[in-house]
Amino acid sequence: MAMKRISLSLAAAGLLGATLAHAGEVEVLHWWTSGGEAKAAAELKATMQKKGHSWKDFAVAGGGGDAAMTVLKSRVVSGNAPAAAQIKGPSIQEWAREGVLANMDSVAKAEKWDELLPKVVADGLKYKGNYVAAPVNVHRVNWLWANPAVFQKAGAKLPTTWDEFFVAAEALKKAGVIPVAHGGQNWQDFTTFESVALGVGGADFYKKAMVQLDPATLKSPTMQTVLETFKKVKGYTDKNAPGRDWNLATAMVIKGEAGMQLMGDWAKGEFIAAGKVPGKDFACVAAPGTAKSFTYNVDSFALFQLKDPANQKAQQDLAAAIMSPEFQEVFNLNKGSIPVRLGMKLDKFDDCAKTSAADFVASNKAGSLVPSIAHGMAVPSAAEGAMKDVVSQFWNDDKMTAAAAMDKLVAAAKNK
Ligand code: GAL
Repeated sequence: MAMKRISLSLAAAGLLGATLAHAGEVEVLHWWTSGGEAKAAAELKATMQKKGHSWKDFAVAGGGGDAAMTVLKSRVVSGNAPAAAQIKGPSIQEWAREGVLANMDSVAKAEKWDELLPKVVADGLKYKGNYVAAPVNVHRVNWLWANPAVFQKAGAKLPTTWDEFFVAAEALKKAGVIPVAHGGQNWQDFTTFESVALGVGGADFYKKAMVQLDPATLKSPTMQTVLETFKKVKGYTDKNAPGRDWNLATAMVIKGEAGMQLMGDWAKGEFIAAGKVPGKDFACVAAPGTAKSFTYNVDSFALFQLKDPANQKAQQDLAAAIMSPEFQEVFNLNKGSIPVRLGMKLDKFDDCAKTSAADFVASNKAGSLVPSIAHGMAVPSAAEGAMKDVVSQFWNDDKMTAAAAMDKLVAAAKNK
């Protein structure tokens, strides 16, 4: 009996040894620590563990990822890069130019990424024609989230224009609730700012100002109106907004302490994680004036060069898993975003996601699909950071004029 047990466990150990020989470790840097985000990240971890690999979580809290990027830089500089890091947009190119990213073409070719991704997305994931990052989703940034019960109590109507937005905000204020849930952090200020810019100025204005960084558009009568409208929103936020995390702002809408929030659809992940039902407990509408446009934010993981062959294999499995239909579905159901992989069935997704998917395609055709500057999709990181500082300064300093802000924006945009 004892003999049998020993030989059985030896056999088991042999089997285990066989799996372990291929098993590697993936260390993954991300900033998904809020309720919905953490659930989505847990799906990625589970996917990798099912493949026999071990997951080393490298989570750096801080919405928008500024803190995570600072930590990443010091890790890479000290020659200790993680296997994968949540890096998006032009920053992918900046990291690739440093010569630290791994070529994922073997995975991308085998899994047919070129056929499965919208071209605008695929191009951003390649450096000199080779894939160096894998995409997980498409977030829409230009959303307004609202609590319908609070709106009803206040006799307010969901706004479709900025004029209607301020009418609703007044009604909510009179009803004794905080009209706009906001967190005063520079990426959140800019998330609001870019939605105002898109709604007030339209997609062509947005592209000239926020993508091409055209000085004459950054300093123009339209930009003046954008800045003034943006500043007017502040009057409907509460005095505790400075420094507040975005998910705590979402919680205010969930609890009915506030009426609405301007935020990307990771906010939906919070409503869902709190057991709320879209269309009933909360509403999603395009940010005022932006129904026909779409500000996109594609989360992706850049893959760093690794030395250990088992870890390289784990990294390739991670890249392949990220693009698999099973993962794209379960991850995005939790995250609030839509799959980036084309041709996916959306039966399990709610109406906010279905609207997002339809608007992504329609805006792409109409030329009103635009990259989010607040979320690192539009311009080099130095210009983005400098512009965020100006916009937050304007938001916080009641003495700063729109004219002064425009001059500073023009100067900030020159940072390369
Ligand atoms: C964005 C990111 C989203 C979400 C959000 C708040 O930049 O793309 O996935 O996590 O920050 O943290």
